[in-house]
Amino acid sequence: MSEEQLVRKIKDGTVLDHVEQGRALQVLEALSIDGKDGNIVTVAMNVPSKKIGKKDIIKIGNRFLKSEETNRIALISSRATVNLIRNYQVIEKRKIETPNTFVDVFKCPNPTCISNSNEPIRPIIDVLRKSPPLLRCRYCSRLLSPNEVI
Ligand code: CTP
Ligand code: ZN
Repeated sequence: MSEEQLVRKIKDGTVLDHVEQGRALQVLEALSIDGKDGNIVTVAMNVPSKKIGKKDIIKIGNRFLKSEETNRIALISSRATVNLIRNYQVIEKRKIETPNTFVDVFKCPNPTCISNSNEPIRPIIDVLRKSPPLLRCRYCSRLLSPNEVI
């Protein structure tokens, strides 16, 4: 079945294409997309792709995600393509860039870190190096690899 038979084209919104196979749900979580705003969200997993074997695809109706939002998925799916669609046309195509900081995207894995206490603290993870990624918790200064936070 072709991609277009699986998930139809959308009129307006954001298409996250070439999402790493199996990571669509983590991407939605990092973007805080839970469907509660009522817009149509379609998710396709394990779709055959010419470029990368298999991929996941996410289509978010009527929302135009900014780079600051989509860059939150840098550690989860760095090769994803962001397409903004207006009136069925792709009006903007972007790559994901690793931000300097992740605010409220990942939890610090250190159980004694103050960001894991009952205090109302938003977890902040600083990016010390982008490639390969090296991270550090702003609160407890623990050095972290992507695998420890995803
Ligand atoms: N798309 C969509 N609705 C539209 C237009 C495009 O859902 N009205 C989706 C396409 O299905 C595709 C993505 O947006 O998953 C990008 O579209 P397009 O740039 O036309 O596809 P490609 O040229 O294959 O993109 P790329 O070069 O990034 O692989
Ligand atoms: Zn910490």
